[in-house]
Amino acid sequence: MQPVKHFLQLKDLAPDELDYLFERTRAIKSKFKSYQQYWPLQDRSLVMIFEKHSTRTRLSFEAGMNQLGGSAIYMHTRDSQLGRGESVEDAAKVISRMCDMVMIRTFEQDMIERFSQHSRVPVINGLTNEYHPCQILADIFTFVEKRGSIKGKTVAWIGDSNNVCNTWLQAAELLDFNMYVSTPPGFEVETDRAGVHGTAHFESFADPMQAVRGADLVTTDVWTSMGFESESENVERLKAFENWQVDAAMMGAASGDSLFMHCLPAHRGEEVAAEVIDGPQSVVWDEAENRLHTQKALMEFLVLGRVN
Ligand code: CP
Ligand code: NVA
Repeated sequence: MQPVKHFLQLKDLAPDELDYLFERTRAIKSKFKSYQQYWPLQDRSLVMIFEKHSTRTRLSFEAGMNQLGGSAIYMHTRDSQLGRGESVEDAAKVISRMCDMVMIRTFEQDMIERFSQHSRVPVINGLTNEYHPCQILADIFTFVEKRGSIKGKTVAWIGDSNNVCNTWLQAAELLDFNMYVSTPPGFEVETDRAGVHGTAHFESFADPMQAVRGADLVTTDVWTSMGFESESENVERLKAFENWQVDAAMMGAASGDSLFMHCLPAHRGEEVAAEVIDGPQSVVWDEAENRLHTQKALMEFLVLGRVN
């Protein structure tokens, strides 16, 4: 039996598989835009297990699966037996006998690793404390749509070195581009946690204005991620981040045609100024929509393999 292919972090896909997914995304998006029915996953089902809130991830997976001819089942750990102490291993054995794919949004990466080891079907990371690989598929696809290949380009990350940042760092190694990262002191990238080999594809800057200089894309995320809220009760955390807001001055220091991205949800007036996220360089709505198209390509690939 072929080993099951999971998508637990971005580097579970090789660079040629990422290129293939982007090519499939283009084809699948074009069918969707011209109302062509495309049901490669007819009669297949996806179970979505959530342990944290979501708008985009739930909607894009559920709508995406329906559009591919399949169905999606929503479960929250709160009202499943997982929330009452059933082991992850037992849950994985049972759930994976009843569906064709599982998407999980949870806290520790270790939970989805353990789930995948006992799953008969592909497991997709819908966000953990460590990574958000589905987001970066959409972000890079959006960049490529707007600007062409990301190879050799520079992406500036401003703010917390969180799950989204870690995944960008993996992408830089896989697709050979540069990351300029600026975090407040005490919130720096941890290369082991990010799952990157070294610093060949990223550079750290104490001053966020230096990090954005000449960047082709400026991106950021909330100062406090889900699961870390107790830290934000700490006024000192908000204070620590106050100079890490992407504002018009920062965008002005980036390359003339620099794009702005944010995975959303956003906090205007914290990590990003309204004039930037609602301004002409922002592509956040295309970025959010592309979650749908890239994940459809991902699900097709995980269930059916390469179709062309
Ligand atoms: N960007 C993202 O994952 O959004 P949700 O939390 O709404 O799913
Ligand atoms: N870093 C954020 C992303 C939300 C989509 C979080 O984990 O809350």
